[in-house]
Amino acid sequence: MASTPVAIVMAAGKGTRMKSERPKAITPLLGQPLTSYVLRALEAAGAAPIIVVVGHGAAEVQRALGERYLYALQAEQLGTGHAVMQAVPYLPPEATHVLIAAGDSPLITPDVFHALLETAQQTDAACVLATAVLDDPTGYGRILRAPTGDVIGVVEEKDATPDQKAIREVCTSFYCFRADALRDALPRLSNQNAQGEYYLTDTIGVLTAMGARVVAWQSPDPTLLLGVNTRWELAQVGHALRMRLLRQLCMEGVTIVDPASAYIEPTVRIGRDTVIEPNTHLRGETIVGENCTLGPDLYLQDSTVGDGCHLFRSHIVGARLDSQVSVGPFAHIRPGTVLHTGVRVGDFVEIKNVEIGEGTKVLHLTYLGDATIGKHTNIGAGTITCNYDGERKHRTVIGDGVFVGSHATLVAPLTIGDGAYIAAGSPITDDVPPESLAIARSYQTVKAGWVRKRRESKQGAGGNEQ
Ligand code: UD1
Ligand code: CA
Repeated sequence: MASTPVAIVMAAGKGTRMKSERPKAITPLLGQPLTSYVLRALEAAGAAPIIVVVGHGAAEVQRALGERYLYALQAEQLGTGHAVMQAVPYLPPEATHVLIAAGDSPLITPDVFHALLETAQQTDAACVLATAVLDDPTGYGRILRAPTGDVIGVVEEKDATPDQKAIREVCTSFYCFRADALRDALPRLSNQNAQGEYYLTDTIGVLTAMGARVVAWQSPDPTLLLGVNTRWELAQVGHALRMRLLRQLCMEGVTIVDPASAYIEPTVRIGRDTVIEPNTHLRGETIVGENCTLGPDLYLQDSTVGDGCHLFRSHIVGARLDSQVSVGPFAHIRPGTVLHTGVRVGDFVEIKNVEIGEGTKVLHLTYLGDATIGKHTNIGAGTITCNYDGERKHRTVIGDGVFVGSHATLVAPLTIGDGAYIAAGSPITDDVPPESLAIARSYQTVKAGWVRKRRESKQGAGGNEQ
């Protein structure tokens, strides 16, 4: 019976090659910290506890990765072997196998950990290490094999001879150690190498020299194991990760018209038969229902969208949209907005912290802020809620079946009753009872024949007109 594997994730490095003030472990990748992908893959593989080695920016890293993990501090970053040494005191005494992963390889999947663990259990190897054969192995440690094919060591690029550099099989920084073998090997590491560091990779040579068995598990898909050391690698790994997520969505019944321009974060959920048109960005805690059309040109973040909605060429953040809602083009929906079933929002409309009832229309050139609006109401073009008096915000309440004529200025606090009519061009400062007409503008005067009379009087006075 296999025992639960424990895991160590190395995430203490500065990430010098990223050229950033921010620790590499929490570099955002599709909206999530880089290392969180590795942690989730380990969790999905059943590893517990997971010990994260932190050092550079430790407090910040710990805050971003969350409280589900144990943290070991590596105050000085003296190498990957040294990092693992800091985690050893946190290993449960009964642990038989230890999965070790670099925190900078976010494409990893739970299957790889399963395969490493299974191989370790079947072979009773002191260590199983994941290797990959790369077209361009630059930057990676190279796998050294004896003529028999047995793995006998790993040499870092900076320590490699030209012959060794030609080896294309690389160490990926994913391992499964037998706990006793790991405890034996770590104290024997030395830092006599090009970087003056304690390399975890040297445990392979140490173990084979001790006569222990090391097994290489070669990944059928080398891309799963790619690490991020530079921002260009971040971009490439990010692309691969995004394509994996888009593929998954397609398999679940979402149409993605143009994967190249669909930016969808892993936190987003989308229902069947929804179509993602080009240049659509779905971010954060966003849930989209079935049969929606999103895009082209949509930015949707931290929002919930029901079934059958049509949202395009608009910016929507922190909103809840029920079913059959349409938004766009050129609308800006801001946090705290709730649009009930069948609401239609058109062009050049900004809405903030407003609840709008079923079937209401806000089709053109409008600002609605801090308001509650009922069902089947029509908000005319150019309507403005004046919610701010320079010091405080006030609410506007508009009932069901209200007709707000074009260019109404609604000065909050204000309540407009059900079925009321607001005449076009009216600045409304007082409450309007239900079923009433409010008109607040000076009446028009028409002066019949005024133009003709003016022309005649000018001709009589000077006669110079042509
Ligand atoms: C490492 C391996 C290399 C392998 C590559 C795969 C070593 C010595 N080299 O090189 O063989 O091909 O990964 O991606 O292991 N870290 C610490 N503390 C430290 C140093 C590093 O926690 O003192 C962490 C880093 O934050 C990072 C991980 O360990 O998450 C790997 O370190 P990095 O410097 O990126 O190693 P590589 O040069 O990529
Ligand atoms: Ca790396």
